[in-house]
Amino acid sequence: MPNKIHAAITGVHGWVPEDRLTNFDLEKMVDTNDEWITSRTGIRERRILKTPGWATSDMCTEAVKGLLEKTGTKPGEIDMLIVGTITGDMVFPDTANTVCDKIGAKNAFGYDINAACSGFLYALATGAQFVQTETYSKVVVVGADMMSSIIDYTDRNTCVIFGDGAAAVLLEPRKDGTGITDFVLRGDGSGREFLHMKAGGSLHPPSAETVAAREHYAWQDGKRVFVHAVRGMTSTVESLLRRNKMTIEDVNWIVPHQANMRIITSVAEHLEFPMERVTINISKYGNTTAATLPLCLWEYEDRFKKGDNIILTAFGGGFTWGSIYLVWAY
Ligand code: UT7
Repeated sequence: MPNKIHAAITGVHGWVPEDRLTNFDLEKMVDTNDEWITSRTGIRERRILKTPGWATSDMCTEAVKGLLEKTGTKPGEIDMLIVGTITGDMVFPDTANTVCDKIGAKNAFGYDINAACSGFLYALATGAQFVQTETYSKVVVVGADMMSSIIDYTDRNTCVIFGDGAAAVLLEPRKDGTGITDFVLRGDGSGREFLHMKAGGSLHPPSAETVAAREHYAWQDGKRVFVHAVRGMTSTVESLLRRNKMTIEDVNWIVPHQANMRIITSVAEHLEFPMERVTINISKYGNTTAATLPLCLWEYEDRFKKGDNIILTAFGGGFTWGSIYLVWAY
């Protein structure tokens, strides 16, 4: 809607570690094979952060530094920085504050949002509110996870899926009809049973017993998550279309969470949306949790055109899920 202020993405930049963990590497670590992983998930390799002393905040820092350079933004101009992550550097303080320090964003404040694979969606919708209400004019939203820090590399159910990465967007006000237009975000905490990390929080604080029981790793009931993911992503895209009086033909791109290629194709089939206009990079990075959506935006940035109707959709631990409708701004 022209004249109304929307928060528009005016730049995106990503960063992934150089080290690759291929399906063939995994064949030597657990009872699996390239054929199974490729056909059941679409993943061929993932990136793993191995730089000594580096953690999630360092991946965020690299992504944000690139973003600032690309958009000609000075660190001191940033008002706010939000990080969607479940693998922050420490339980506290939050990673966003660490990133502000590392990039020299002296005038910014920030915080983390823990919504697992929906972390970037929740963070983007949150950041957009501050811009749309004219509270702030430069908000950075990052999705980042160092999943390798919470993956059990003896568990073939999870270790073949996840990888590390980070990507960031800059949100600024626009009055030309571009920007974040609408969103449907959902949550159902009863899903925590099917996707979680059991220990390390206040329910099961770290102890010799929790370490011995391997409870500091991500665990999931993959089949259960799969079914809910397809349903949750599809239904929130449909709600957005209805609310905005759009049909699927009005959508130029769908940017789905990259958890499993079969989930992505199933969502596209349910929506009767052509796969050529679905962003996909899962074969290279696997599931980077909160980083998948902005990494896709980064990768497809050159193919998007100003005015394109784009729907972002994700599903993750919590359960958390939802979709965001935005009009591309450049
Ligand atoms: O991002 C949000 C969080 N996560 C997700 O969205 C993930 C959702 N779930 C999935 O992507 C899939 O459920 C998985 C990829 C995790 C598993 O695929 P699946 O087709 O649901 O396989 P399954 O768990 O039903 O297992 C089928 C068979 C089993 O063998 P049996 O019992 O039929 O003999 C597994 O033990 O495949 C076996 N299996 C494997 N075989 C080789 C499970 N993992 C592997 C593996 N390599 N890595």
